[in-house]
Parts: sequence; structure tokens; C-alpha cells
Amino acid sequence: MSNSIYNKLLAKENTLAVVGLGYVGLPIALEFARKIKVIGFDINETRVEMMRNKKDPSNELEAVAFEGCDIEFTSQLEVLGKANFYVVAVPTPIDEHNLPDLKPLIGASTTVGKVLKKGDYVVFESTVYPGCTEEDCIPILEKESGLTWKKDFMVGYSPERINPGDKVHTLQNVVKVVSGCCEDSLDNIAKTYELVVDAGVHRATTIKVAEAAKIIENTQRDVNIALVNELSLIFSRLGVNTYDVLEAAGTKWNFLKFFPGLVGGHCIGVDPYYLTYKAQQAGYHSKVITSGRYVNDSMGFYIGKQTAKKIIAQGKHIQDARVLVMGATFKEDVSDIRNSKVIDVVKELSSFQVTVDVIDPHASSEEMHHEYGISLCAKPSNDYDAIVVAVSHAEYAKLNESDFKKMLKNGEGVFVDIKGQFKGKIKDLEYWSL
Ligand SMILES: NC(=O)c1ccc[n+]([C@@H]2O[C@H](COP(=O)([O-])OP(=O)(O)OC[C@H]3O[C@@H](n4cnc5c(N)ncnc54)[C@H](O)[C@@H]3O)[C@@H](O)[C@H]2O)c1
Repeated sequence: MSNSIYNKLLAKENTLAVVGLGYVGLPIALEFARKIKVIGFDINETRVEMMRNKKDPSNELEAVAFEGCDIEFTSQLEVLGKANFYVVAVPTPIDEHNLPDLKPLIGASTTVGKVLKKGDYVVFESTVYPGCTEEDCIPILEKESGLTWKKDFMVGYSPERINPGDKVHTLQNVVKVVSGCCEDSLDNIAKTYELVVDAGVHRATTIKVAEAAKIIENTQRDVNIALVNELSLIFSRLGVNTYDVLEAAGTKWNFLKFFPGLVGGHCIGVDPYYLTYKAQQAGYHSKVITSGRYVNDSMGFYIGKQTAKKIIAQGKHIQDARVLVMGATFKEDVSDIRNSKVIDVVKELSSFQVTVDVIDPHASSEEMHHEYGISLCAKPSNDYDAIVVAVSHAEYAKLNESDFKKMLKNGEGVFVDIKGQFKGKIKDLEYWSL
């Protein structure tokens, strides 16, 4: 082991590179750079320049996170080629048909393949279906490099568990799953990650097991949220408040605590599609997982329709109605608007000819316009017929009923509290939650 890649990394004779410096890649690159020599590689030169200036393009890390790091940011292949241990953390989105879009992963594998040398390691961190690393990525590494896997270079897979906006569950304090392609490679990969993960690593038996473990973490969450979303559709018809029911049922020791809501973002609403795609390829048509996806993907439209119905029930002319939607990001206290399901609420309301204003203290209006053709409203007015609190940003938790009344026409109207954040606190307005 004395001549191992781990020891060489530790002695700074070898260098680790992180390919793809987004929500996942940048924190891990900086953490490694406190212990060993790191190259941070990204194809987006604008982002690279920001990072050189100690600015996180994903707005998650402060400048102090860059202090004391031995890291070189680059978009140049020649610089990347100086590394020996490559960690790949590029996006794995779905396309318009909800099928895996492997373009970034194939692009990154091609890039790494071009600079791969004998003795190098490649560890994939992007979320993929079981089999993707071996069937889709390694053949590209071999083709581009002319080298042979397991003889000339080693490959592992280590899924990421970071949770944007979460300051409690961090890279350091959550056990990380690692895998390799033989005993020795697993040992080197495990020891390398142990440098940055205080909570330690779990050594998965194979690469496929590690890939599957990640995909089911998010699939399980998606299906569980779908169940409570479906319950909320039923309870709404029965005139029962879902949050009241969950609070009562939650007093049992083995009742799982999930809450209804919009499932957006680029993980929970996306990853299950990678699994159902692979299942289908293997001759199995997923039913439970796809049903869950259907329910969760329908919630935004359902909320929009319920809001319109409540406005009509107040005797208002729906085409003249004005609605304020508070929050546009895919979850609370982050600026990420990608795959935000709040847009479905807006679309549904707009289909009733309702005028909708959207505000958000974290989202960028330019990005919203670019992504969805919706600009954010700089300042809410005081003549809305309904307010939809769509995202539980900390800023909104400070508001009370009189603040909302000031934004409503004559201080009256419909109050839709998607996350049940204001349950029990709204007395005069027409309150509705999932
Ligand atoms: N964001 C999360 O919370 C989270 C959590 C767990 C797992 N994941 C998974 O981690 C992976 C990365 O996600 P992310 O949220 O960090 O993505 P991201 O969109 O924040 O960042 C990706 C970065 O990769 C760069 N990039 C794209 N193609 C590239 C290429 N060919 N070569 C080099 N760089 C390239 C982009 O410019 C960008 O800077 C995905 O598979 C995702 O599912 C994400």
C-alpha cells in the first residue's frame, strides 16, 4: 500500500481532479483541497472564473470555504491531464420524454478518457441507473484512452448525499457509500474519501450496488411523498385536513413522517425515471414507481385548479382575478429554480386567464424568464384575490395574517398554504392547504 495512489495523493505526489463543479462537485473539490492537491475542472469558463475569484456559482458556499485550499480551477484539458484520480460530478438530467439524458456524463467520460494514464483512477459521483458506469462510461474511457479497465486504470462509484440548503447534513457528517472494481481499488477509494468524510464510508460490494443504493434513496422518498400527496387528494374531498391527520397518525412509533407537497428539483423528481428506464430495458414495467411519479407530477396543476375553484366560490369573476404566488424555487431557502413545480401552479392559474404575480427572495428574475418565460414581480401589490405560499422560505415564516391581508383586495381573499406552514394561524382568510 506504501506506493498506493492514496499514499501518493496524501504526499501530494499525485493530484485529484473533480470534473463538474456544481452543487456536488465544488464542495467536494474544496474539501479534498484542504488535505491533498486538487484540480477543479469545468467546461463552463464563466463559472471557472467565478471560482477563481472565490465565488460559488451555485450560491451555496461563502468565500471562506475557498480559504486554505490547494486547488487550481481550470477548463483546460492540458491542466486536467496532470491529475491521477478523477472524480466526475456532472449533471444527469432527464429529457422532455422523462428519459435519462447522459450527454454531460458521456461528455465528461470522453474528456477524462482523453487524458487518462496508466495507474489512474476514475470515480463517478453522478446519480445514474445501476449498470451505467460499467455499460456506458467505462467503454468511453477505454476507447478514448486506448487503455484497458482493471489492467491499466481503475474505476469506482461513490454517490453524493448532499442536500442543498441543508447546513445540518453535510458532506463531512454523513456516511458516504463507496465502491471499486477490485479489493485494492476499493481500499484506495475508501481511504481517499475517508480523508474528507468524518462520518466514514460504507464499502459497497460492487459498483452496481452503489449505483442502485443511491437511486433507491430518492425513489423511496418520491414514492412516500406520492402516497401522502394522494392522501391529501382524498382528504380534500372528505373535508379533512391532511396535516391534522398526519400529526395524529405520527404519534405511532412506526408511522413514517412524510408531508404532501410539490416534488421538484433535479434529484427526487428525476432519479426515479433513471430506475424505471433501466427496469423497462430489463423487461419490467414499473408500476409503483411510475404511479408515484404521476401523482407527484400532477400536484402543481391540482393546486392551481383548487386555488381557482376557491376564488370562484367567493363569487369572483375568475378572468379578472389576480393571484400572488410566493416562492418560485424548487425548495425552501435555495436559489435553484430548475425543475420547480411552482411553475405548474402558475401555468394552471394562467389557463383560467388569472393574472399571476410571482415573487421570491432567492430566485433570479433573469433565470426565471430564461427558463420559464416568467419574470419575478419586484414588489407585490395590494389587490390580490388569492395568495399561494408555495415555498417555505425562512423569510415567509416571519409573516402573519395581517401582512397577508395587506396584499389582498379589501383585506379579504383565499389563502393557499401548500406546505401547511401557517396552519392554525390564519383565522379570517379562506384557508386551504394540501
Ligand atoms: N444537487 C444535489 O443536491 C445533488 C445531490 C446528490 C446527487 N446529485 C447528483 O450529482 C450530479 C451533479 O449534480 P449537480 O447538482 O452538482 O449539478 P450542477 O448542474 O449543479 O453542476 C454541474 C456542473 O458540471 C459542469 N459540467 C457539465 N457538463 C460537463 C462536462 N462534460 N465536463 C465538465 N463539467 C461539466 C457544469 O458546467 C456545472 O458547473 C448529478 O448526477 C446529480 O443528480 C446532486
